[in-house]
Amino acid sequence: MMNIMECKNIQLIKNNQTILHDISFSIEAGDSIGIIGPSGSGKSSLFRLLNLLISPTQGEILYKNRNIRDYAPMELRRSVSYILQKTYLFGTTVQENLLYPYQLLNQKPDFHVIRNYLDKANLSINTLEKKNTALSGGEQQRIALIRSLLIKPEIILLDEVTAALDEENTLLIEKLVTDEQEAHHLTLLFVTHNTSQAKRLAKKILYLDAGAIDFWGTAADYFSLKGERDE
Ligand SMILES: Nc1ncnc2c1ncn2[C@@H]1O[C@H](COP(=O)(O)OP(=O)(O)OP(=O)(O)O)[C@@H](O)[C@H]1O
Ligand SMILES: [Mg+2]
Repeated sequence: MMNIMECKNIQLIKNNQTILHDISFSIEAGDSIGIIGPSGSGKSSLFRLLNLLISPTQGEILYKNRNIRDYAPMELRRSVSYILQKTYLFGTTVQENLLYPYQLLNQKPDFHVIRNYLDKANLSINTLEKKNTALSGGEQQRIALIRSLLIKPEIILLDEVTAALDEENTLLIEKLVTDEQEAHHLTLLFVTHNTSQAKRLAKKILYLDAGAIDFWGTAADYFSLKGERDE
């Protein structure tokens, strides 16, 4: 398996506070990594580093064996897509949001592909004509995710994207992501405070505690160790 991304001895210091220390791990193409740990342990900071929004104080991050600093930020962010809990739709209508990826990639819109994604997300094609404001929070989150997937990223970083959603919407988002993984060998990193979600989606777990790696390994090992500790 090819390492698509590698963190090598990452340290992040801000205002004299060590936010991450000595983080090293490799991400294989097609991985599904659940990132868990207490609030303030550095999960979102790690994503911000992987997305070139901030730079490490020490250490390096490689994407396809090249330091991510050698990529133009916009170019890297097309391949490594960062999706937040509150992802805003832009403009006025859903259609504007789903045509944007085609403009960005300089391609003709493919309504067959768009329709397919809407189907999977349990949304009708008429949703395109709707105003953003006419959509529920869960529907907006599905459209935002589809917008990201249409750009064909190789890695997606999902930062608590389902935290504000009910179970039905959560499972719809999970299905969109796992279908995409199967179809396009997408690599998935996701932050969650939801243990059942981590069990459903993760093949590997990275557990951060106070900015350091407390566990890095298979989800099966993590949950069997956790089970023993909790007993
Ligand atoms: N812009 C910033 N400037 C200074 N400190 C920051 C900044 N952003 C985050 N921090 C600090 O870095 C630490 C890690 O924050 P981070 O947001 O990465 O945690 P998290 O694991 O994502 O937490 P949560 O589960 O609550 O989202 C916290 O102590 C936070 O106060
Ligand atoms: Mg966070």
